[in-house]
Amino acid sequence: MKFPKGFLWGVATSAPQTEGHSLENGKSATTWDKWFSLKPEIFNENQGPATTNNTYEMYPEDIKLMKKLHITSYRTSISWARLLPDGEHLNQEAVTFYRNYFQEMLNNGIRPTVNLFHFDMPWWLMEKGGWENKEAITKFYFYAQTAFAQFGDLVTDWVTFNEPLVHIEMGYLSHYHYPAIVDFKKAVQVGYNTLMAHVMAVKAYRESNIRHSRIGIILNVTPAYARSNDPQDQTAQNVADLLLSKSFLDPAVHGVIPEELIQLLKKHQLLPETRKKDLDLIQQNTVDFIGINYYQPLRVKAPSNPRFPAKDTTDLFEQYEWPERRINPYRGWEIYPEALYDIAMIMKTQYSNIPWYVSENGMGVADELRYANKDGQINDQYRIDFIKEHLVQLHKGITQGSNCCGYHLWTFVDCWSWLNGYRNRYGLVSLDLDNNYKRTIKKSGFWYRDLIDHNGFEQ
Ligand code: BG6
Repeated sequence: MKFPKGFLWGVATSAPQTEGHSLENGKSATTWDKWFSLKPEIFNENQGPATTNNTYEMYPEDIKLMKKLHITSYRTSISWARLLPDGEHLNQEAVTFYRNYFQEMLNNGIRPTVNLFHFDMPWWLMEKGGWENKEAITKFYFYAQTAFAQFGDLVTDWVTFNEPLVHIEMGYLSHYHYPAIVDFKKAVQVGYNTLMAHVMAVKAYRESNIRHSRIGIILNVTPAYARSNDPQDQTAQNVADLLLSKSFLDPAVHGVIPEELIQLLKKHQLLPETRKKDLDLIQQNTVDFIGINYYQPLRVKAPSNPRFPAKDTTDLFEQYEWPERRINPYRGWEIYPEALYDIAMIMKTQYSNIPWYVSENGMGVADELRYANKDGQINDQYRIDFIKEHLVQLHKGITQGSNCCGYHLWTFVDCWSWLNGYRNRYGLVSLDLDNNYKRTIKKSGFWYRDLIDHNGFEQ
């Protein structure tokens, strides 16, 4: 099974999950730093955002390792709070760090994909309401302009946001991201302001004089699979698709907010505050490509006890456990590679066959270090099997004409993950926190190198 010539084989991560030095070298606090200082006990094993794999100092070693594994694309992010600690003044140390980091990738034949926001809201802005406050849009526009001016010559693909739905759902409809409240109205406003911040960042990019790169957004979309053909389950599926897929995909690619979504929000008295010029801005600032993060499918059924107007998404659709599901025993998530084929077809048929790539996919394994052999190497055949199964489905979609141009595994070196700390490890390379951040390539790392060399694998 061969992938198209020039297919990108990459790995993905983010600044807050890898850099470390979380309150050093001029960086100011993010919501994660602040939350950890207030409530360390809610973080797995009390491991907070300072306990990363120390990419800030070790990136030259990591890039060497990537080169050794023949990786050609690396997706990470810039920390807003590091680049502009107070939102206005440039941190020169951060400029030097990121310029050296991106240059090192280029020197080693690795294409930098750089994202502006990966759940890491600066604390000074959160104190003013974060994405609830429209001022955040203007601040983000300035941050994007600054990043393009400082690093535009080095970056190949720019990304505005990683999984915007996550900071909305986890922060305003559940308790996994700060401010950890449940407020549907605020969640919608945060979603809308995030969308406008994305649009303004694309605008800043188009206004810059950068011509050699592209700009996109990374979304964690999966088609919603309904429990049955029952009309109520079908409605739930449609609503889930509107809220969790089309809400960002349609404006990003087609430049419009779906009318059906507006009507749904209106019916539930959830319409956000908007500005007159917004619709034009959305229409004028569509993206060049889409990144899709895919881990598990979304299975939905009609809500059991819906309230009206809806107080949270469970009044519109409920998630359900498909009886035939296959579970990743190490992480508890459903494994359903077929969704990648479905996504490929949706991108082809509903989104103008825009260039897209898998920007994250991977297998989390709890307490993975226990599988290490006496030399410290992890024999993660389960991860290899997981990747293969997903690539088979992706390949099928590409063969049928979907414009997918790459695959990025989450992640390279095991990294810190929000409230989960190091509970689930995903890397091709394991990390020993007790031994000076020692990196050891897992079996999957060498397998990934062979995959890249063959631009595919024997089935
Ligand atoms: C992705 C996020 O959705 O999931 C990453 O973009 C995160 O930031 C990854 O680390 C894995 O999550 P978890 O909860 O298994 O550690």
